Amino acid sequence: MLTKKKNEKMTELKSWNKLEKHYNKIKSFHLGDLFTEDKRRFDKFHIEFGEILLDYSKNIITDETMKLLLELANERDLKLWIDRMFSGDKINFTERRAVLHTALRNRSNSPVYVDGKDVMPGINTVLKQIKLFTESIHSGELLGFTGKNICDIVNIGIGGSDLGPAMVCRALRHYAVPNMSVHFVSNVDGTHIAETLKDLNPETTLFVIASKTFTTQETLSNAHTAKRWFLENSNGNEANIAKHFVAISTNSEEVEEFGIDTNNMFEFWDWVGGRYSLWSAIGLSIALYIGYNNFKKLLSGAYAADVHFRTAPLEHNIPVVLALLGIWYRNFFSCSTRAVIAYEQYLEYFTDFLQQLDMESNGKYINRKGNEVDYQTGGIVWGKPGTNAQHSFFQLLHQGTQIVPADFLAPVQSNNPLNTHHDILISNFLAQTEALMKGKSAEQARKEMEAAGMNEEEISELLPHKIFKGNKPTNTIFYQKLTPENLGKIIAIYEHKVFVQGIIWDINSFDQWGVELGKQLAKAILPELNVDISATKHDSSTNALIDYYNKNKMK
Ligand code: F6P
Repeated sequence: MLTKKKNEKMTELKSWNKLEKHYNKIKSFHLGDLFTEDKRRFDKFHIEFGEILLDYSKNIITDETMKLLLELANERDLKLWIDRMFSGDKINFTERRAVLHTALRNRSNSPVYVDGKDVMPGINTVLKQIKLFTESIHSGELLGFTGKNICDIVNIGIGGSDLGPAMVCRALRHYAVPNMSVHFVSNVDGTHIAETLKDLNPETTLFVIASKTFTTQETLSNAHTAKRWFLENSNGNEANIAKHFVAISTNSEEVEEFGIDTNNMFEFWDWVGGRYSLWSAIGLSIALYIGYNNFKKLLSGAYAADVHFRTAPLEHNIPVVLALLGIWYRNFFSCSTRAVIAYEQYLEYFTDFLQQLDMESNGKYINRKGNEVDYQTGGIVWGKPGTNAQHSFFQLLHQGTQIVPADFLAPVQSNNPLNTHHDILISNFLAQTEALMKGKSAEQARKEMEAAGMNEEEISELLPHKIFKGNKPTNTIFYQKLTPENLGKIIAIYEHKVFVQGIIWDINSFDQWGVELGKQLAKAILPELNVDISATKHDSSTNALIDYYNKNKMK
């Protein structure tokens, strides 16, 4: 049972009020001064977990800030909620579901119960199915309809059935099985599948239709197009579909209805949220692309992060500390966005994945009691890899009018150690957080201009433009190397960070009702397209736009 505290309003919690007062004191502090005053700042504000280091010393915080934020976590019964999630309680109460992506990577194999039934045997059976299937494709035991090896995997899915596997495959392409390629088709825009199919040979292509519900419009449209393409470009024999199409879903009836034999179906369960599903059979494309052993290493890395999250004291717990710092900036500094910058080209799609993870989970204004919140919840997550980002949006981070807290991630070792590339990359990585923290004073800027031989008139004209206020908060996350294990850890850390924030904000991070309305309206609009009748059922804007489309499309 939760304690009585859970019914208290967030903004009335003792720790919240203390944090508000503390914020008023600290908001005028400068990070540069905090470093000058306390030489042990890094020692105090960093956490090491295996091959991962989090340095959070470049945040606008003091010992008192962290103490109060931890008090907030305790007032919100965080530890109890962590236990509830891991032990299969139905904390996704609006969908009456447990939240057990952690069971999918539970390498200890200890039982995890949902409705009194251990889910581990089912998970192990599907893992074995993934292993056998993957190895049979790689060994050539399973071949295409003309006896050729499968060498192109096309994952058709969207949202959680696309972003996780797509991000991981791109991140781990260094570990790809030789001669294996993977493609991801998600958008219902016909261009996506058309451009993908252009280069493919039906004899050597395997389509993985990934959809938890198997009712998602985009995925089914793309899957039907793929099936048609396959039949038109092979001998048209429907029996060959079994060799070239597999499905991953919780919905066997719809899979059968689509025309995929349920023997070719990989099961998962309603207690796996879409955006948390890459660890389930939704990861089949990952296993096919990087091999089953590497997929297992990814799971092991995530499991290690789960153990850390579950057992490390809150003050030494990376997801908890990241989450609390996020709350600090979102709710007290009123920062509406946060950037994630990976100095790792392989993590090019990491923020795309994080956007769904974070924004679909915590973009909510109704709390667990069904009331509207009177504080901010999830913010906007965005970012691109460094150093490219330095040459696009970093100007705003350095001299813009708002604070954008940022996470900086980089590997100590590169998977591609060419010449001096990696040291150059890392020097930029380190320089940026230093520059964001310190800034550049008028005095420094003046000295530099004097040294460059500028006269007083030039100096006074340019001086205001050359000053950087600094005091921009960042977290630095160093990991040893981008391996399947370390990627698993990093993803799980962010998953748990999002969870902690949802608990503190008292929202259900595991549903996504907000995406439903648009889907419903699209279904209503579809039959109104390509007709010769004026639209009348909507507002004047939507009616006029439907008419405009119909008139001009038929031209
Ligand atoms: O539209 C949102 C969503 O429901 C996501 O949460 C989910 O990941 C995605 O659609 C795809 O759903 P499915 O796997 O059922 O096709």
